[in-house]
Amino acid sequence: MYKGSDKVLRLIISARRTTAEIAKETGLNEDSIRRIAEALKGDGYATIETTESLHGIPTAELERYAGSVFPEVSVHRKALRGAMVADLTPDEKSIGIRWARVKGFIAIEGGKLVPEKDESEVGEVAKRMSEAFSQLARSGRCEDAEIFEELFERRLLERKLVKTNTVIYSGKKVDWSLFEEKFDVNVPGQNARVGKNHPVTKLTNHLRTIMSELGFQEMEGDIIESSFWNFDALFQPQDHPARELADTFYIKGDSPLPEDEELVSRVKKAHEEGWKYQWDPKEASKTVLRTHTTAVSARYVAAIKDKRPRKYFAIGRVFRNEATDYKHLAEFHQIEGIIAWEGATFTDLLGVLKEIYGKLGFEKIRFRPSFFPYTEPSLEIEVYFEERKQWMELGGAGIFRPEVSIPLAGVYPVLAWGLSLERPLMLKLELDDIRDLYRNDVDFLTSARLDL
Ligand code: PHE
Repeated sequence: MYKGSDKVLRLIISARRTTAEIAKETGLNEDSIRRIAEALKGDGYATIETTESLHGIPTAELERYAGSVFPEVSVHRKALRGAMVADLTPDEKSIGIRWARVKGFIAIEGGKLVPEKDESEVGEVAKRMSEAFSQLARSGRCEDAEIFEELFERRLLERKLVKTNTVIYSGKKVDWSLFEEKFDVNVPGQNARVGKNHPVTKLTNHLRTIMSELGFQEMEGDIIESSFWNFDALFQPQDHPARELADTFYIKGDSPLPEDEELVSRVKKAHEEGWKYQWDPKEASKTVLRTHTTAVSARYVAAIKDKRPRKYFAIGRVFRNEATDYKHLAEFHQIEGIIAWEGATFTDLLGVLKEIYGKLGFEKIRFRPSFFPYTEPSLEIEVYFEERKQWMELGGAGIFRPEVSIPLAGVYPVLAWGLSLERPLMLKLELDDIRDLYRNDVDFLTSARLDL
């Protein structure tokens, strides 16, 4: 129960009240009263009735009349003294005469003001108007409906709809003992678990910063991909073992080939000339869970339209139909990157990779020759894993073969790499099983310290 609930309840039991009235009577602010009223409503003690009423905000013109009288009244007074139209002030001339005539206070005969009502009658009207004015100043409303209407019509008031909440006792029997304050602010609170980012999220964000600092732009792509972009665009022959069900997760339904038919036929030609087989568009239309983020790189290379140097990176999930063990996951993240620039060399590739791992705190890395269908030369990056006294593979890299980047965009060379995110994370967190990252063990997640 909110502090003050009992006071409010007692008040509404005696008579229904608006939240503003309750605020005034209890000395609490209206926001607190609204909260208390909602709580009482939730507990069945009260209902809240909301009504909208029209309020009038005095305009500058009305404020002008506040200290004196309305111009039609002063015109009438002057008429009583036998004044001429010419004797009137500008307000009296432009506004006063019109309303004095509408209200039947005066007539005009040959430039002379002629009173048509006596002083006490007009004085009565003047009194009503000043009373209305002081009510308006107090509450934004006035009881005299006729004058209220007139003031809107004369644009002396602006319209404003105001909501009023009335709190009404429901009749539910009250157990006052429930309203005693049970909350002791001096008792220390229990330790609460605070939320924190998962180590994978932390490292992902950190890598985004590193790659941005190195001048790379982030690429975006989907985890559901066509075989065309995941394999064919990367010069991976259609009978390559990695494309088999045993390695790749296929998804029901075909994915359309790119609309650019010339692009498709250039890729087809590269396969048929390079690998000597009949390229099948049906095979390329199969839908997969992407097996590597290099599919994203392929799409971005294909979008290159000029010779301007480009540096892109992506961090995303990939999927492999693979048995898991202490260093293998079937679903993991890759840090992908490409540099498309005529002047780039293989040594640049080694330098950039060394730089990225250096920024991650891995000084002891080595490169080994390797093979990928889409790069030449190709290499693997390894880091020394003290715990197991062995080198651990972090990812692959190379220069996209001309069979890849020429059909896609007519560019060469394009440096490329795809690195595991979880492997370095495993080393940083000193895990000896990579699967610990995804067991969702709260103790592990709470205690995991990732110093970046
Ligand atoms: N795609 C490769 C993998 O998943 C990595 C790679 C990317 C290799 C780019 C070379 C170039 O292992």
